[in-house]
Amino acid sequence: MTSDIKAIILAAGKGTRMKSSTPKVLHSVMGKTLVERVIDNVFKIDNLSEIFTIVGHQSDRVTEFITSKYTSVDCILQQPQLGTGDAVFKAYDRLKGFEGTVIVLCGDTPLLTTETLNNFVSHHKETGSDLTVLSAIIDPSTNYGRIVRNAEGNVTRIVEEKDASSEEKAIKEVNAGVYCIEWKQVSPAFFELTTNNEQGEYYLTDIVGWSVGKGMKVQAFVLEDNNEIFGINSKLDLAHATSLLNSKTLKSLMTEGVTIVDPKTTWIAPETTIGADTVVYPGCYIEGSNSFGVDCLIGPHVHIDGGVTTGDSVTIAQSKVSDTVIGNGSVVGPFAHIRQGAEIGEKVRIGNFVEVKKSKINSNTNAAHLSYVGDAEVGSHVNIGAGTITANYNALTREKSKTLIEDEVKIGSNSVLVAPITIGKGANVGAGSVITKDIPEYSLGITRGPLKIFQNWVRERLDSIKK
Ligand code: UD1
Ligand code: CA
Repeated sequence: MTSDIKAIILAAGKGTRMKSSTPKVLHSVMGKTLVERVIDNVFKIDNLSEIFTIVGHQSDRVTEFITSKYTSVDCILQQPQLGTGDAVFKAYDRLKGFEGTVIVLCGDTPLLTTETLNNFVSHHKETGSDLTVLSAIIDPSTNYGRIVRNAEGNVTRIVEEKDASSEEKAIKEVNAGVYCIEWKQVSPAFFELTTNNEQGEYYLTDIVGWSVGKGMKVQAFVLEDNNEIFGINSKLDLAHATSLLNSKTLKSLMTEGVTIVDPKTTWIAPETTIGADTVVYPGCYIEGSNSFGVDCLIGPHVHIDGGVTTGDSVTIAQSKVSDTVIGNGSVVGPFAHIRQGAEIGEKVRIGNFVEVKKSKINSNTNAAHLSYVGDAEVGSHVNIGAGTITANYNALTREKSKTLIEDEVKIGSNSVLVAPITIGKGANVGAGSVITKDIPEYSLGITRGPLKIFQNWVRERLDSIKK
């Protein structure tokens, strides 16, 4: 006996009801695919050493996705798909001589938590069982396999809906499709599975009756929260799973001291951490591994899509923010668009309709209105006037170049800085300029045409029209 655990995730099925060209397990719930959610939760099971995923339908795409994200997850091909029993059997060769526990689950149940899986495994071990099935009490129990127990209450077998008698159909305890298997004892069952059933498939569920027949210890572990085994079969299910996951996340954030003004219009992925006393206003959509400090204000109407870290007391409003670091005491938005690779220091103000991409903006700098700052490095105490554009892209050579704006520079409104270019420390750029050469420190750069005033020009025109 060893405490070693290996997992098999079944993901070869077709997913016809998704009506999609994308394989079922590659659909996303709050920014993460179904199979990633399952794999990430399985990885955190205590003593887990290896994960196998059984792929079949659109196996190329599923395998490529999984192996590009997880170097240690092995994909095994099941072609054709002859049933869940056949699917697990495909991993048989890889598990030769293995003396630990194999946990089997499906790739389309993204809500099953590591906590439940750990409790399930502990129960299996503590009771010294050879086989434990995760079950749930569901009414109506339609479409699930039913757990059949004898007069003493012991599990005897699982019967699929299509093969069940009317009495068996009335059973409310169903098979959740998750199993703990003592591999050495139970794996011989896979050589004895048959297709003598209504669907003509090799049923994984038949290992239950087989083990009971051999006098082994077989148990069912009843799930506490039925939502956890919610499986995705359609786009409707996808939306329902998203909403279940979101409600749970919001509940736990609020419990930790985050204020969520309107849970109905707030969407936050479970990967996000938010400090206490941060207020999330209505209309926010936050997915990916983000982390917000305490006492921040988020929203209304922000879309934050991954990799964002903020300090404390940051305000982000009506913005789209991605892969970004924002320092303490900054204000972003409303209606700002901060794209990937922005690094924004403390007390910076990024105002409305300002787009920032791949740029570093140091402390106490303002870009308050209508600007584009791309591929730039901007110093401290800089003022970027309304309508300033860093022209970083040469459409002929398709090259991007950098703009360097040193400390204390003031850029007048509606200026274009044609990169590559450096605006030296303390320099000023006159409003409306197109700057194509470096401006030395503490100098003024201006390209404005001279102002001409024609006195009484309008009056004379009007007089001549009237005549
Ligand atoms: C299965 C169980 C049923 C249980 C239900 C829980 C069997 C025979 N029945 O039924 O008792 O209540 O799950 O959700 O196991 N798959 C493969 N290869 C195959 C067939 C399926 O990898 O050849 C995968 C599917 O991609 C899916 C999983 O196995 O992830 C379950 O298959 P599915 O056809 O959905 O099983 P159910 O009929 O729902
Ligand atoms: Ca089926």
